[in-house]
Amino acid sequence: MPLDSFNRQINYLRVSITDHCNLRCVYCMPIRDLHFAPREELLTAAESETGVSAAAGVGYSKVRITGGEPTLRSDVVDIVRRIAGIDGIDDVAMTTNAILLPRWAEELRRAGLNRVNIHVDTLDPERIRRLMRFASVDEVWAGIEAAQNAGFDPIKINAVVVRDYNEGDVVELARLTLERDWHVRFIELMPLGGGECARLALSQYVPNTETRDRIAAVLGDPTPLPNVNPSDESRNYRLPGARGVIGFISPVSEPYCGTCNRMRLTADGKLHLCLLNDDEVDLKQTLRNGGGIESVQGILAEAVRRKPTGHRLDDGISTEDRGMFQIGG
Ligand code: 5AD
Ligand code: SF4
Repeated sequence: MPLDSFNRQINYLRVSITDHCNLRCVYCMPIRDLHFAPREELLTAAESETGVSAAAGVGYSKVRITGGEPTLRSDVVDIVRRIAGIDGIDDVAMTTNAILLPRWAEELRRAGLNRVNIHVDTLDPERIRRLMRFASVDEVWAGIEAAQNAGFDPIKINAVVVRDYNEGDVVELARLTLERDWHVRFIELMPLGGGECARLALSQYVPNTETRDRIAAVLGDPTPLPNVNPSDESRNYRLPGARGVIGFISPVSEPYCGTCNRMRLTADGKLHLCLLNDDEVDLKQTLRNGGGIESVQGILAEAVRRKPTGHRLDDGISTEDRGMFQIGG
């Protein structure tokens, strides 16, 4: 298993397969001046498969498919099938906005996808339009139901909390866990990409302590749950009488860099070493040179060696070159 310079075991690869998205969440994708990677720069399904096989060969065991919105790739099922079939990869998950899940959920499940995390910030039909711009609650809800019917378990919902947009809606989202065996997690806003999204993240940030208090004031004090997986970035709780779980992902107020176990592969074939930092190592060239698994593994080892110790948001440092939609969270 690859150990980085800080003795962290890096065994989780997040694979972004497109920088396109059918939504435009205000903190993730700007409306203007958007630049997408040209098609020929995107890794093909076969290239992603080779990259993940190489990673599995050096001890990676967990993969998450991300975007942009991964279900926009017409070959998304093929990509999942290839990755799920790799020896040593025992968990394949996906982060999605669920809009296209009524179309894809069954096939993705059959192709070997184990879990989905669904991103929705509010259940209010008006406010969702302000925040996730082209989304509607009905469409997201249909996507969640499709995920459930396809047998994905547990259903995990991720909500990013943005002041003056949805900070009060966290109570209704948390309430979903009372009757349902779902995990609803609240994510602190992070500034990425240097532009309007980063500015919004800095001015509209809500600490998760505040979100927790807001939920507790209405639904009662949540009980902390033991942390089953040490690199789970979510602090989990159960509300009184609830079937499901609420969780708080607090990269800004409580960084979890010390237990970071991830590496990221961008849709255009770069290993992105830390979410909140521009450092990258090119993998695509090696994949395309036909150098074979061993040279790909050499690049993976270099990336792990160069992985920074942690983010430096406190010093005002984050990504400038890429927005969230170009990394995949
Ligand atoms: N800060 C925090 N989380 C974000 N996401 C997207 N942009 C941001 C941001 N600026 C989340 C979305 C999605 C995941 C990939 O990252 O909720 O689920
Ligand atoms: Fe699309 Fe997800 Fe970014 Fe929203 S957060 S614009 S759904 S990639």
